[in-house]
Amino acid sequence: MTSPRFPFPSLPAGWYSVGLASELLPGTVVPLRRFGRELALFRTQGGRVGLFDAHCPHLGAHLGGGVVEGELLVCPFHRLGFATDGRCGSQPRCYPGKIPEKLSARPWPLLERDGFLVAWYDPLERPAAWEPPTTDLVPFRPLRTRRWTLRTHTQETGEGSVDLAHLQAVHQYLSAEALHPVATEGPMLRAAYRLERRAAPGMHGDTFHMDIHVRLNGLGFSTVDVTLPKQGFSHRLWVLSTPIDSETIDYRVALAMRAPESPERVHRALGLLPRPVAVELVEAMLWREFVRDVELDFPIWESKAYVDPPRLLAGDGPIGHFRKWARQFYAALPTAEASAATPRRQDDHAGTTTSANPSAPPTMDDQSSPRCGPSEVKRPVT
Ligand code: FES
Ligand SMILES: [Fe+2]
Repeated sequence: MTSPRFPFPSLPAGWYSVGLASELLPGTVVPLRRFGRELALFRTQGGRVGLFDAHCPHLGAHLGGGVVEGELLVCPFHRLGFATDGRCGSQPRCYPGKIPEKLSARPWPLLERDGFLVAWYDPLERPAAWEPPTTDLVPFRPLRTRRWTLRTHTQETGEGSVDLAHLQAVHQYLSAEALHPVATEGPMLRAAYRLERRAAPGMHGDTFHMDIHVRLNGLGFSTVDVTLPKQGFSHRLWVLSTPIDSETIDYRVALAMRAPESPERVHRALGLLPRPVAVELVEAMLWREFVRDVELDFPIWESKAYVDPPRLLAGDGPIGHFRKWARQFYAALPTAEASAATPRRQDDHAGTTTSANPSAPPTMDDQSSPRCGPSEVKRPVT
């Protein structure tokens, strides 16, 4: 069943961020609501991370209210303890008999990627056929990250990656051109753009440009590599969009910057400062601008309708191609190949390429999503 607001299910399959690895300290447990479910995320004293369905398989207490003891998450109700693989590993004194093996918590597939904890969600509970790639974080400075709760869908946030015209209309770039056609391969989509922006006072020249390379790994885990050739520096961004339930998503962004060799190439005044201070200032400026840019999309996403088929114009970018690619994450919908046979208005003005789709994880769900109202005040979570 599709939702009233979107003509597709509200919970597509994929890898989704459920937290920052550095924030989950050994011995802690966090109650979470994601994928329309109650969950318990925890780290053992030995450093292992586990994610369970929240309700204890014994009599249903919320494991997010439990405690970590050694390598076990201990339920607050009758003190059964569960290892990260879900197996019951404790024998409370009130139970004289052997604890049956079947009495186990349900563990979710969980990975650590680039400092984020990412969980595999599949409404049919099939194993993951792919994983997001790993970034070598060594060349980068530490991550900066922020998250919000938004009333939208992960497919809508992903669509912004190929919506070329909105880069000028919403994000105020002076120009935006595709560097190559959008390319898709299974659950991965790549796009690249050259963007031009007005320079701030004190920067060299009136304008500057940046090249960005976007990689979507499903609808939940995306990276953007940004290079500013004139300023001589680059950084990587993460955009992590996780369904909370049928109405809302957890939207997290992060930035990791390579320290610029010559901060004065970014802004003349920075040449007067000690290098560590100048690098800090560049990063703070970059982060502030990035967060401001990200937030410009929120009122649009929270109040827009999903028009299908859309009335596209030359210059819109390959929105149709993105939508066909995204169908693979819902088993209830035809795949890109199948829908290509259906006559629809096409919009791939920037051109597209598509390769075979060997690892697409077709999925479905029947969650519904109520219609979204006008934009509300945003709630930054961290
Ligand atoms: S409900 Fe968890 S141990 Fe009884
Ligand atoms: Fe945007």
